[in-house]
Amino acid sequence: MYISQQIAANAVNQVLSGRNLTLALPAALAIFPNATPQQRGAAQDLSYGTLRFFGEIDAYLVQLLEKPLTDNRINALLLVAIYQLLHDKADAFTVVNQAVHAVSELKKPVPKSWAKGLVNAILRNFLRQKEALSAKFKANEVATYSHPQWWINKLRMQYPNHWQGMLEAGNEHPSMTLRVNTQKISINDYMQLLARQDIEATHIGGQAVVLTKPQPVEKIPGFTDGIISVQDYGAQLAAYLLDLNLQAMPPNIRLLDACCAPGGKTGHILELADVQMTALDNDEARLQRVQSNLDRLQLKANLVTGDAASATWWDGKLFDRILADVPCTASGIVRRHVDIKWLRREADVTSFTVQQAKILPNLWQMLAKGGKLLYVTCSVFNEENQGQVDKFLQNNADATQLPFELPANCPQDGIKQLNGQLIPTSAHDGFFYALLQKN
Ligand SMILES: C[S@@+](CC[C@H](N)C(=O)[O-])C[C@H]1O[C@@H](n2cnc3c(N)ncnc32)[C@H](O)[C@@H]1O
Repeated sequence: MYISQQIAANAVNQVLSGRNLTLALPAALAIFPNATPQQRGAAQDLSYGTLRFFGEIDAYLVQLLEKPLTDNRINALLLVAIYQLLHDKADAFTVVNQAVHAVSELKKPVPKSWAKGLVNAILRNFLRQKEALSAKFKANEVATYSHPQWWINKLRMQYPNHWQGMLEAGNEHPSMTLRVNTQKISINDYMQLLARQDIEATHIGGQAVVLTKPQPVEKIPGFTDGIISVQDYGAQLAAYLLDLNLQAMPPNIRLLDACCAPGGKTGHILELADVQMTALDNDEARLQRVQSNLDRLQLKANLVTGDAASATWWDGKLFDRILADVPCTASGIVRRHVDIKWLRREADVTSFTVQQAKILPNLWQMLAKGGKLLYVTCSVFNEENQGQVDKFLQNNADATQLPFELPANCPQDGIKQLNGQLIPTSAHDGFFYALLQKN
């Protein structure tokens, strides 16, 4: 276990120094090339778990330390061990002993015996004083909700009736949701296919099937053949909301998927409707992921590397539909990206709104009269969502926001939303949707 603790502590330490977990974890794993698959899997679980509950764990640790530790590596190791003691099934004394062993493996400058004694004392004190310590931080919201205080304040102000549930949903383990291509297989047949492979799952609505236990994608029937994709239930609404009139589509409708990578929504739209798809992203490496996703699904699009805030890549031909899944704080998908809570600063909200405010009018000029643009974020902050749309509407008299309605053919079961803002629940992430029509 101590190797998994060491890897997780290294990853957590990197994140707390400002690095993304998707980069930090592979870097931490690379330091331990001999770690077994089990140790690697456990390290991943510990890294995600520690960061998911960092607010709570850190509140305990701060009280247990007489003064802040100068060695961040020991601090991170203690965070991981306290996470295990609070939220993991592992035996408490094994966790402590392994953490003491892990700290003894750290390279200098820390004197080994001092560090071992400290880790042992802190963790044993934690076990003895857990209840008394938690009583002391009852009023500490960062500890209670494991989100930064500015984030909690913002949600409380913007969602007076929902903020607590939203914070709690943000700390849940994300479900692994599949999108079944029902053009290729019925939901019933696919559920039977899963059952035959002893994979427990629930059909939650529309094309969405949730696996009881996440699986490596290669093990999920139909993934390599392009029958299913992995996509959050909330994200599965986008293709329906684009109002593609799936039964009676005019041929050659032109659709721009701006900000398309890794192509989850691109693939879904193409599965449902025969459109001329231009898929744009400014990140060439991420566009390659779109291509491999489309290859897997046996679908085709014109992939373009370019900036959605500029028209340099555009040939001047108008689009009938535009999907603008703009860059955002990603505050609606924190259960999947646990590091975001601790990496984002309040000022980032403004930076993203500035980017979005450049992208939206630029794409608008590319939309045909009568055409529709679906503005999407995976954020729950109003400034990036309805606030952004309201500003756009004030400056663009030819734009009308259509009332948010889930089309009849669109999944409805279990979707929790307020005027296009999906309220994160265990069933779906916190996307925002606004459909704009050009007059
Ligand atoms: C929220 S993700 C899109 C997710 C995607 N629509 C899907 O469903 O899989 C946002 C994407 O926007 C891209 N992006 C960020 N700024 C951009 C810009 N100025 N122009 C084009 N793409 C941009 C990022 O590279 C990223 O792939």
